[in-house]
Amino acid sequence: MSTTAYQGATAEAIRHHYDVSNDFYALWLDRSLTYTCALWAEPVLGTEAVPDDLETAQARKLDYLIEGARAVGTRRVLDVGCGWGSVLSRLTQVHGVQQAVGLTLSDSQAALAESAGIPGAEIRVENWRDHHPAEPYDAIISIGAFEHFARTGLSRAERVAAYREFFGRCFEWLPPRGRLALQTNVKGNNTVMDKATVRELMFIIETIFPESEIPALSEVVEGSEKLFDVVSLRNDPDHYSRTCAEWLHRLRNNREAAVRFSSEENVANYENYLEASVRHFQNRHLGLSRIIFQKGR
Ligand SMILES: C[S@@+](CC[C@H](N)C(=O)[O-])C[C@H]1O[C@@H](n2cnc3c(N)ncnc32)[C@H](O)[C@@H]1O
Repeated sequence: MSTTAYQGATAEAIRHHYDVSNDFYALWLDRSLTYTCALWAEPVLGTEAVPDDLETAQARKLDYLIEGARAVGTRRVLDVGCGWGSVLSRLTQVHGVQQAVGLTLSDSQAALAESAGIPGAEIRVENWRDHHPAEPYDAIISIGAFEHFARTGLSRAERVAAYREFFGRCFEWLPPRGRLALQTNVKGNNTVMDKATVRELMFIIETIFPESEIPALSEVVEGSEKLFDVVSLRNDPDHYSRTCAEWLHRLRNNREAAVRFSSEENVANYENYLEASVRHFQNRHLGLSRIIFQKGR
């Protein structure tokens, strides 16, 4: 049992973002409601970009991480931060997994994922920190949730300690040589920022994702030290830039309905955040890591 306070975003802060309205998100995400960076067919940007679509690119991303975690055909898999259930559904419906357990802090996400009746899936509104599984998992996947595991304003040492606790739990829940597939935004290595850039990034942290923080890649790896080996690592900022551009395009095409399902202020905020994200992934103020970890002992 942990004696320190949870250092990540509170359930209230998570709900502030993800409980806006399921209908609102359905207007601009792909059909699987995957709300994280897709994996596009290469090359991603430029005149010679290969024809691709968001649905296919999201399924390719899920498969990349599911295969990387060696979850295919296994009995029990955990998805930490399961959103509206796209990983759970892909695990049990496409990859022959018997039981897929998903954790989220959002009631609306859980309600929608439950209503889909995904065979073999169990959706829990539960912080990973309070999760005490009766049995171990064969593999663990976590996509786009890590950014919420350390809140804004912590020191580097505090953030690393918070990440370390997450890796420690995953270590306990996996068998020897078990794998964790993690996808997370990371800070980019272009640290040259004008005032407008700093303002835009602060707007995203304060207004769109309160209490959350984008980790440095070194902090993620440091948090995993002596527990996990890094098997592979991809940095795909252009993939997130293109994903955000696609989301923004869909949101603008459905603007009237988006305002009806939320508010004018909310839609304007999302347009600003997606538009800023397109640029900041492109100019490397932000990065996108997909890391396959394996238990080191
Ligand atoms: C950006 S969404 C990603 C959802 C999904 N993985 C996807 O790719 O569409 C982040 C998810 O992390 C969940 N989350 C954040 N902090 C969490 C925590 N401490 N425990 C469990 N889930 C958490 C949120 O509720 C949400 O479902």
